[in-house]
Amino acid sequence: MCGIVGYLGSRQAAPILLEGLAKLEYRGYDSAGVCVMSDGVLKVAKAKGRLANLNGLIDGGKAIQGTFGIGHTRWATHGAPSDVNSHPHMADAGKIAVVHNGIIENYLKLKERLTKKGKHFKSETDTEVVANLIEDYYDRLNDFPRAVRRAVGQLEGSYALGILCQDLPGTMIAVKKESPLIFGFGEGENFIASDVPAILKYTRKVVYLNDGDTVIFTKDSARFYDAFYDPVEKVPEIIEWDIDAAEKCGYDHFMLKEIYEEPKAIRGTLSPRIKAGRVVLDDVSLTKEYLEELKRIYVVACGSSYYVGCLAKHILEKTCRIPVEPVLASEFRYSEPVLGKDTLVIIISQSGETADTKAALVEAKKQGARTLAIVNVVGSAIAKEADDVIYTWAGPEIAVATTKAFSTQLCVIYLIALYISDLLGTLPKEEYDRILEELQTLDQKVSLCLTEDLVSRIRYYASQYCNVRDAFFIGRNMDSGVCLEGSLKLKEIAYIHSEAYAAGELKHGPISLIEEGTLVVAVATVDQLFDKTMSNVKEVKARGADVLGVTTERFQEEIKKTITASVVVPVTHPMLQSSLTIVPLQIFAYYVALQRGCDVDKPRNLAKSVTVE
Ligand code: M6R
Repeated sequence: MCGIVGYLGSRQAAPILLEGLAKLEYRGYDSAGVCVMSDGVLKVAKAKGRLANLNGLIDGGKAIQGTFGIGHTRWATHGAPSDVNSHPHMADAGKIAVVHNGIIENYLKLKERLTKKGKHFKSETDTEVVANLIEDYYDRLNDFPRAVRRAVGQLEGSYALGILCQDLPGTMIAVKKESPLIFGFGEGENFIASDVPAILKYTRKVVYLNDGDTVIFTKDSARFYDAFYDPVEKVPEIIEWDIDAAEKCGYDHFMLKEIYEEPKAIRGTLSPRIKAGRVVLDDVSLTKEYLEELKRIYVVACGSSYYVGCLAKHILEKTCRIPVEPVLASEFRYSEPVLGKDTLVIIISQSGETADTKAALVEAKKQGARTLAIVNVVGSAIAKEADDVIYTWAGPEIAVATTKAFSTQLCVIYLIALYISDLLGTLPKEEYDRILEELQTLDQKVSLCLTEDLVSRIRYYASQYCNVRDAFFIGRNMDSGVCLEGSLKLKEIAYIHSEAYAAGELKHGPISLIEEGTLVVAVATVDQLFDKTMSNVKEVKARGADVLGVTTERFQEEIKKTITASVVVPVTHPMLQSSLTIVPLQIFAYYVALQRGCDVDKPRNLAKSVTVE
């Protein structure tokens, strides 16, 4: 995780760095720091806690003058959040400064070696080792680029590094391996950053660095080298989306803004891929011949993306008649999955950076499976590594709790389901057409889940239930997948202990936890299973639970017989219903968190992209 930004030009660097870090705070937010070359000396300012603390410390950047610097926002891995563990880290003699995103796996060995050579360490971080290692080579070679190159050759693990040397004012070096890093071309100024929003105000011309790449740059020039240190030409990509997409635009939180963006995001995912009554996936190369030989599909992901995988099992098995197994990416490699040419591994990741998910992808490829990634962040590591990629095109998602990315990932699963079933002929034409027709109105139906009426009703329930200690989400069939996600949303941003169960499982254990005042959220949209879920609701009510129901217009009257507090969403094709039922659960979690005074966009202990295992 962690966010990096670097600036080299003619303007004051510190305010630009602070501004960039503010856009990267979603990546980590337990401390922040900057290092700026000021009057020929590297000056560092760091502060534990939110960026606002650093901002105050250096008076919005005015306190450190200079046109050349690096900045960092941290999500602690090695050493607790503290001023001293914050980046940038200076090497012992104070001549080299480093910001780092990633993990140096052999840092202890290197630290021992460097300590024996007389280097001193102030922090517990792996990054300070990198700074000292570079300095060690620099002491001997007196050549900054060569020193960086030699030091990087010693590093094991993942890193995006921004490096300054006091003896070489006006030159910055950045290196990337397995952690994201972009280079931004300006006019008489250049940038590095972990992600586009950090520099989008200044440039749209960016290069996504590849693993092993190094860039050595001044304000007017940039030289790129590949993993073998051969010079390479890089053609910049032009970022098409607007900075507004990464701003709150009047919403109190990114999470709320991103929920309201769901209809547009869904449209953006679906409509370019539906042409003349068919799903067209120009981005994938799955042939009919390949699909006919396919024995199994694994869907591998973490967190909410994994829950899309749980829903994908129902969707793909129903439509394509191929066995589908969702697997947590952190478990995949160690579960000895049966993989081969006849296995398709669908990898789902909003960020395209999640370490466990990427490792699973690499393992699947190594064992000969075909891989198809569903990714939001263009040019991310997972997108580059997979055999095929389908982008969700949801636009930047900033809130740590995913909402629109989840919804668009689900939409890509619908597209894949229709695409495969079309090639294999596993769905009757009328059913295919019916689903496709509903798919084309899905964005409008999601909008109906966001009407002021519905939202204020949910806000009211949030105020009623915001003080519960425990919550259980129950549902059957596809509703149970929605429950997993609704429950995760509540626990991650509102810090309420919450669990999700297939409703029928309750009486096999969890019901013993139901007592007076426990909240049970019951999702009941599946026609044949509505009554069964209501029986489970009666069981928990009999034990004192407060129940909040979520259903469709079809059961609007029926649900009132059992549950007084309920939320009603429009009806769509049963295969697509989860796209509508998830919306009130996202809104519910948002308002509960708000009532409890939680930091909705930046929940404690979490980060947007989990680049460590
Ligand atoms: O970027 P990814 O989709 O790979 O991230 C996976 C999970 O870390 C992510 O979905 C996480 O569970 C979110 N905080 C959920 O809101």
